[in-house]
Amino acid sequence: MWLMWIYRILILNHEISMASIEPIILGLEGTAHTAGVAVIKGREVIVNESATYFPPQGGIHPREAAIFLAKEFPILIDKVFKRLPFKIDKIDGIAFSQGPGLGPCLRTTATVARAISLRLNIPLLGVNHCIAHVELGRTVTPVDDPLVLYVSGGNTQLITFLNGRYRVLGETLDIAIGNALDTLGREMNLPHPGGPHIEKQAQSGNKLLTLPYTIKGMSFSFSGMVTAAKKLLHDHSIPDVCYSFQEYTFAILAEATERALSCTKKPSVLLTGGVAANAHLQTIIQKVAQEQDTSFQAVPRNLAGDNGVMIAFAGTHLFNTGKILSVEDSQVKPRWRTDQVQVGWIE
Ligand code: ATP
Ligand code: FE2
Repeated sequence: MWLMWIYRILILNHEISMASIEPIILGLEGTAHTAGVAVIKGREVIVNESATYFPPQGGIHPREAAIFLAKEFPILIDKVFKRLPFKIDKIDGIAFSQGPGLGPCLRTTATVARAISLRLNIPLLGVNHCIAHVELGRTVTPVDDPLVLYVSGGNTQLITFLNGRYRVLGETLDIAIGNALDTLGREMNLPHPGGPHIEKQAQSGNKLLTLPYTIKGMSFSFSGMVTAAKKLLHDHSIPDVCYSFQEYTFAILAEATERALSCTKKPSVLLTGGVAANAHLQTIIQKVAQEQDTSFQAVPRNLAGDNGVMIAFAGTHLFNTGKILSVEDSQVKPRWRTDQVQVGWIE
């Protein structure tokens, strides 16, 4: 009960200062493999630190990733706080990735956020990780009302804003594109995550091998393609399989994007999420945008993967619209969908 009162007072205090256009926000990212800690002021990144977990073998084990985050967060936070050009009590809000993501990782991150919030009397802001990727793109590129192709290890979605929410126009029906690349990479004994290594291998491939092409409307599926690509490895070279896998999967993403663009007539396409770092995918989606007479932007490579900056940018919007979270309501949401969030910061 007393916690609720403390929060009511905190919320009241911060409603008064909410008129400030450029709040200072601490962003904590920790949905899976990356512990990200950043402080921003408006659009300015003041400090940005991160540490990424690489499993010794196989994919990411949620509990091991959570242990990694628990070790790294105190180190990163200490580093960030020491580098701040002002006192930590100037921070207006603590934004954290509340979901979606791996349960143990989300719980670790939420615990860190709650602890800082209570210790420093700074309100909490619960950020949807997928929307944070989108808001990062809207902040660091010139796009305003884009069709978003969000491609990462855990998600692949075509998103656009309509009537108070980000709507999912199409998405993967099974695994995400990044997960597909990483799974195939493991089969080839490439280091984790496989995505960037497959991109490199594909550059020396030139034989287009046949794979299934699975798209239905604006949604698609990749797991059957991974199984088929694994079989090709018996008779074909790694570069040719990588090249073919990229050509097929990226063509599917291009087709879905083209369909969504011709339906929505959005003025721009934004490519975001970890796989947005792929130069070949960028070229393909840029071509689609050009043919539809729309502009194209990809998030810069250094901000394409998970980071604290994106959580802080999205947290700024929550702060400016008064969406402060009490500790009681700060439970994590491992399956929180993009289209479940009320977006009060876009007209
Ligand atoms: P989300 O919760 O948004 O799904 P995530 O945990 O997948 O996030 P991100 O950092 O957004 O994390 O994306 C990581 C993915 O990006 C991995 O699957 C990785 O292989 C992929 N990736 C990174 N660089 C490249 C690249 N150059 N080409 C293809 N894939 C890449
Ligand atoms: Fe991500």
